[in-house]
Amino acid sequence: MTIIHNPKWWKEATIYQIYPASFKDSNNDGWGDLAGITSKLDYIKELGVDAIWVCPFYDSPQEDMGYDIANYEKVWPRYGTSEDCFQMIEESHKRGIKVIVDLVINHCSEEHEWFKESRSSKTNAKRDWFFWKPPKGYEIDGTPIPPNNWRSFFGGSAWKYDENTEEFFLHVFAPGQPDFNWENKECRQAIYDSSVGFWLRHNVDGFRIDVGSMYSKVEGLPDASITDPTVPYQDGTDFFVNGPRIHEYHKEMRQYMYTQIPEGKEIMTVGEVGIGNEKDFKDYTSSKEEEFNMMFNFKHTSVGESPEFKYELIPFTLKDFKLALAESFLFIEGTDCWSTIYLENHDQPRSVSRFGSDSPEWREISSKMLATLIISLTGTVFIYQGQELGMPNFKNRKIEQIKCVEGTGTYGAIKRDYGEDSEKMKKFYEALALISRDHGRTPFLGVVKSPTLVFPRMRNHGSILMNHL
Ligand code: GLC
Ligand code: CA
Repeated sequence: MTIIHNPKWWKEATIYQIYPASFKDSNNDGWGDLAGITSKLDYIKELGVDAIWVCPFYDSPQEDMGYDIANYEKVWPRYGTSEDCFQMIEESHKRGIKVIVDLVINHCSEEHEWFKESRSSKTNAKRDWFFWKPPKGYEIDGTPIPPNNWRSFFGGSAWKYDENTEEFFLHVFAPGQPDFNWENKECRQAIYDSSVGFWLRHNVDGFRIDVGSMYSKVEGLPDASITDPTVPYQDGTDFFVNGPRIHEYHKEMRQYMYTQIPEGKEIMTVGEVGIGNEKDFKDYTSSKEEEFNMMFNFKHTSVGESPEFKYELIPFTLKDFKLALAESFLFIEGTDCWSTIYLENHDQPRSVSRFGSDSPEWREISSKMLATLIISLTGTVFIYQGQELGMPNFKNRKIEQIKCVEGTGTYGAIKRDYGEDSEKMKKFYEALALISRDHGRTPFLGVVKSPTLVFPRMRNHGSILMNHL
C-alpha cells in the first residue's frame, strides 16, 4: 500500500474513548463524572494511549445520554463543574495526553435556549434555525399529519407536532433532538462560536464530529420512497446523508477552527460519517480538502444487521466481515486521506461478544485476537473503555431495563405497528440481546471478575506501521 507520507501526531495516535456516565464515579452518586476521569489519567497513560475522546458531558436533559445538548458551554452538573472539566484537560496535557471532545451539532436539545426561542412564535428571529413545517393535512379525527414520511432513527415519525404554533419540527433522532437548519448562516456561526470556539479556547485538541454526514438536507425535504409498505414511516437517509452542501459546511467549519487556535497547533477531527461511497470518504478526509482528518465508517459494525432494519439479525461470513472492515482504510491508498480503525464505541456491543466468543474459556484469547487485528491495520486506532480488558456484553436484560433511547423508541414503534406478540418483536428481542447500545454503556469493569489487559502497550503503533508501508 502506498500513501502520501505526511506525518501528523494523530496518525500515530491511539485514542481511548470514555463514556463519562459509566467510567469512574468519584463521589459515589451512581454516575461517573469528570473528576473520576481525571483520577484515572495515570491508568490511561499506562495503557500507552495518546489521546482521550470524551463523550458529551455538556448540560442536557439526557434523553439520548447527552447527545441532546441544552448548553454547549456548560457541564452537566452530575458530571461536575466547568472547573472540573478544565482540570481534566490540564491534567491530561501534563501527562502528554491530548483531549478530544464530542461535537454534537446536527441537532441540539429541545431545552436549548435557541430552540425555546425558535418554538416561541412563527416570527421569532430564530424560527428558521430549525426545520418548521405545517401539517401535510389532518386525519379524520383531526390528528395532524407530518410534513413528510421520514422515520426517525429511534422509531416513529421524524417530526414532532408543536401545539403552540401548530407546526411540526424535524428530528431525525429522538423527539427531544431538533435538527438545526444549516442553511441558515447565522445559525451556523452561532453553532461554531458556542460549540467549537468555546472549547478550542479552552485548549481541547480536537473533535469527534457526531453524525457529521447529516447536516445538509435536500431542499424541500421530499418524501422517501416506500421501501417497507408494512410501516407508516420510511427511510429518508437519501435526502440527508452526505447531502448537497455537506462538504461546503465542513470546509467552512474547519476554517473557523483555525481562527480559534494558536499558530502551529495541530488539532484533529474525526467525523462520524457512517455510510457513503468512496468519493464521499475521500472528500471528507483528503488533507487538501480541509474537512475532517479522518472518519468513522459503519460498514463492519453493521455486518450481520439487516440493511433495511438494524434490529433484525442476518447471517454473515468471516469474508463479509473482512471486506467490510477493509472499506475503512483501503480507500486511502495513493491519496492524502487518512482512516480510522475501531471495533467498539458507545453505540456498539462489546466486540468479543459480537465478533469473538465471550465464554469463560475463550473470552481472553478471543479479545486478544481482536486486539491484534485492529492494531495491525492502517489507520488511527480507537479503543473504547473496557475493551482493553475484553469486557463482554451483559446477559439476560429485560426490555424494562433497557435505557438507550434507540432501544426503547424502536420497541415502542414495533409494539404500535406490529404488536407485542409479532414475529417482528421476536426478532427485535433477539437482535437487542446481541447489539443493544446499552452493552457498551454498563459500568467500567462491572462484570469482569479478574481483569487482565488484552491489549499490548499501544504507544506509537502507528509509526511502526508507517515504517512498513
Ligand atoms: C451518534 C451518537 C449516538 C447518538 C446519535 C445522535 O450516532 O454516536 O450515540 O445517539 O449520534 O446524536
Ligand atoms: Ca458521580
